[in-house]
Amino acid sequence: MKDPISTDVLIIGSGIAGLTAAYFLGKENIDTIVISKEKELSESNTLYAQGGIVTLGPDDDPELLKKDIISAGAGISNPDAVEIIVKRGVNLVKSFLIDELNVPFSKDENGELLYTQEGNHSRRRILFAKDETGKAIEKTLDKNVRKLKTVKFLTKATAIDLITKHHHSTNPLSLYKDAEVMGAYVLLQKEKKVVRIFSKAVILASGGLGRIFLHTTNPPVARGDGYAMAYRAGANLINMEYVQFHPTSFYHRDADSFLISEAVRGEGAILINRKGEAFMKNYSKLKDLAPRDVVTRAIYEEMLKNGDHYVLLDLSNIRIDVKDRFPHIYETCKRYGVDITKEPIPVVPAAHYSCGGVKVDTRGRTTLKRLYAAGEVSCTGLHGANRLASTSLLEGLSWGYFAAEDILNSSEILKETPPFNEIPPWKYPAKPEKIDPALIVQDWNLIRSTMWNYSGIIRTTKRLSRAKSDLEYLKHRIEKFYKSAEVVDSIIGLRNSVQTALLVIYSAYFNKKSRGAHYIIDNGE
Ligand code: SIN
Repeated sequence: MKDPISTDVLIIGSGIAGLTAAYFLGKENIDTIVISKEKELSESNTLYAQGGIVTLGPDDDPELLKKDIISAGAGISNPDAVEIIVKRGVNLVKSFLIDELNVPFSKDENGELLYTQEGNHSRRRILFAKDETGKAIEKTLDKNVRKLKTVKFLTKATAIDLITKHHHSTNPLSLYKDAEVMGAYVLLQKEKKVVRIFSKAVILASGGLGRIFLHTTNPPVARGDGYAMAYRAGANLINMEYVQFHPTSFYHRDADSFLISEAVRGEGAILINRKGEAFMKNYSKLKDLAPRDVVTRAIYEEMLKNGDHYVLLDLSNIRIDVKDRFPHIYETCKRYGVDITKEPIPVVPAAHYSCGGVKVDTRGRTTLKRLYAAGEVSCTGLHGANRLASTSLLEGLSWGYFAAEDILNSSEILKETPPFNEIPPWKYPAKPEKIDPALIVQDWNLIRSTMWNYSGIIRTTKRLSRAKSDLEYLKHRIEKFYKSAEVVDSIIGLRNSVQTALLVIYSAYFNKKSRGAHYIIDNGE
C-alpha cells in the first residue's frame, strides 16, 4: 500500500461508535477510512455486549431515565450529556436502529418489542436481542456500512500514534499554531509497514481498557490503545479512576472473560453465598438490582468474610424459559459443565467498563482540534462515577452520530486542509531488535496483576503508590525497548497498556474521595 494515504475522515475502531459515524459520513459521500487492528472488522467490545440498549419503555418518561442515570452515576454525571442522551439519543434507537437498519431486537408473539430491566433502572426500558444484543447491532451496522461507496476499511491495521502538528511537523513554526490532529501513523500488520493516513478529522472510537486488569469481561481487543494515543497527543482525559467492575463474570478456570448479563438478575435471579444465603438484602434496599458498584463490593465482602473464591447466581426463581431467553449464556456455561436450568452459576466481579476517558463535549469534540472521540474511549460525563446498565451502546451510538454530524456541519473541518506536506514518513530503528514473546507475556502479567491487586475494587493509597512506582519503572523499560524493536502489534499494545494503566492509577491516587466505582480506603503511604 502506498504511503501516505489521504482521506477526509479517519475512524480508529469499528464498534458501535465507529461504524455509526462511518455510516452517517458515508451517506453524505464523505471519504472515510475505518481501521481495526483485528482481522474481522466486527471484533470489538460491542460484539460481546449481552444485556441491551436503553431507550424509553412503554410506561417511561425522559425525566425518570435522567434520574436513574444520575443516581447510578453517584451524582456526578454531566447534566449536558444526560439531557442530550435522553432526548436525541433514545430517538436514534428508534429512527436509526429500528426503523432504518431493522436491527433484530427480540419481540413477543404479536411482533411487539420486548423490554428488559437491569440494576438501578426504575422501568423496563432495555431493548435486547436475546443475550447477544451487541452482536445483533454490530453485524447489522457492518452489513449496512459496507454498502456505502465512500467508506473504506483496513483491518489488521494498528494505529501507533495520532499525527499532530505540534509533535510531528518538520516546520518549527507550527509550534505557534493551534494544536491539531492530522491523521495517524498506522502499522499494516501483514506488510510490516507503517503508513501515514492523513485526514481532516479523526474519530477515535477504539473502545475500552478492561484487559489491563487480570479479571475482565472484555475481549483481548480492549487493551487501552486509544487512551494512551490521545494522552500522548496532548488531549485531556478525565474520570479515569472510575473503572466499573461488573458483579457477575463466570467463574471457571478455563473460561476467559465470560460475562453473565445483569439482565439475568433483571429477570429474577438472585445472588447467594456458598452457604446458600441471599445476601444482597444486607447491602442495599434495591437488593440484587442495586447499582453495579454496590453489588460488586457486596460480593467482594461476602467472598472475604467466608473465604470463598466466588458466589453463586441462583436462577431457580426465574419464571421465563431461561434457555430461550439466554441461549448464549446457557450454551457457554454448559460447555464448561454448568447447566443453568438446574444449578446456580459461580460468579465473580471483573473489570468491565471505563466511565472515564478522552474528554468530549456534546458534539464529540475533544480538546484537540480535528480530534473527536466516541464510545468507551471517550468521556462524555454521562456515566459520572458509575455507569447505569445498558447505557454504553446508547452512548456509543449517540456520540458516533453526533461526531459525524459535527464534522458534516463544521465548515472549518472539511473545507480547510492541514499542512500534510510537513509530516515526515515513519522512522524505523536502524537495526530493529526482534521481539521475544516471553518478555511481552511477562510484562502483560505484571500490568494485569498490579492493576487487579493494587488498583482494583478496593483501593488504598499505599497500594496505588506501589502500583505507580512499579508501572512507572515498567513503562520506562517498555519505552526503551519499543524504540529499538521491530514495530509489531504486540509491542504497540504493550506500550499503550502500561500508559493507560498509569492513567488509571494516577487518577485513583489523587482522588481521595470514594464515589461510585472508585472506592479508596485511605490508609496513608
Ligand atoms: C450486561 O449485560 O450485564 C452488560 C450490559 C452493560 O454493561 O451495560
